Amino acid sequence: MIKLGVNVDHVATLRQARMTYEPDPVTAAGLADLGGADIITIHLREDRRHIQDRDLALISKTVFSKLNLEMATSQEIIDIALKVKPGQITIVPERRQEVTTEGGLCVTTQKKLLADIIKRFRDNGIHVSLFIDPDKDQITASSEVGTQSIELHTGNYANAKDERQSAKMLEVLKEGVRIAQEAGLRVNAGHGLTYKNVCPIVESMDVEELHIGHSIVSRAIFVGIKKAVQEMKELIYKHYLIKQNL
Ligand code: PXP
Repeated sequence: MIKLGVNVDHVATLRQARMTYEPDPVTAAGLADLGGADIITIHLREDRRHIQDRDLALISKTVFSKLNLEMATSQEIIDIALKVKPGQITIVPERRQEVTTEGGLCVTTQKKLLADIIKRFRDNGIHVSLFIDPDKDQITASSEVGTQSIELHTGNYANAKDERQSAKMLEVLKEGVRIAQEAGLRVNAGHGLTYKNVCPIVESMDVEELHIGHSIVSRAIFVGIKKAVQEMKELIYKHYLIKQNL
């Protein structure tokens, strides 16, 4: 069964809008846990625009599910991650001006740097994933730098203007999964996924984890985070059964 990673960064974004203590992403992570999240994801950015060091420390001690820490390759964040030891890290590109992570990591141009970082994490028993675009060269380079998993960026699929483009982007993702699995990589996917566009992904792609933030946190405002997570889990399960012809 496909695992669901729930990204609670957006809860922290709301808190930081007022620089106050609420809503607390630590509480959100606990409730997402209760709703059936398999993984809790947070991104400790260098500029600390949403998740704070205190959130990482508390979530790492309190969540039952696997903690997936998204991070860039800065030395400060690497040192923190090696101290906290999350179950998994996902290396993402980071630009100060961006609203959210805008595209995949360029692995081809920084193979040596990534190989060294990945080795440090793997030597410390931390599973490593690289967030990349569904591009053959990036996938091949990822398999060469020693990562165990990749997370395919689903943004172009999610932002498709019409059904034709969406179908085309889905094919690109499916081909990416095929190439990655042939290279021995485990494949996750995420970014821009919603209660609507996640269904074709589940029905047609062999991925291990789906990482979803904005859509779940948005629904949570109206139904609560535990229920929002439960609904996404049920949706993924329903379409997983369709895929298996069950
Ligand atoms: N995966 C990665 C690597 C991300 O950076 C993000 C956004 O923080 C997500 C998944 C979740 O994206 P969204 O919030 O659009 O669901």
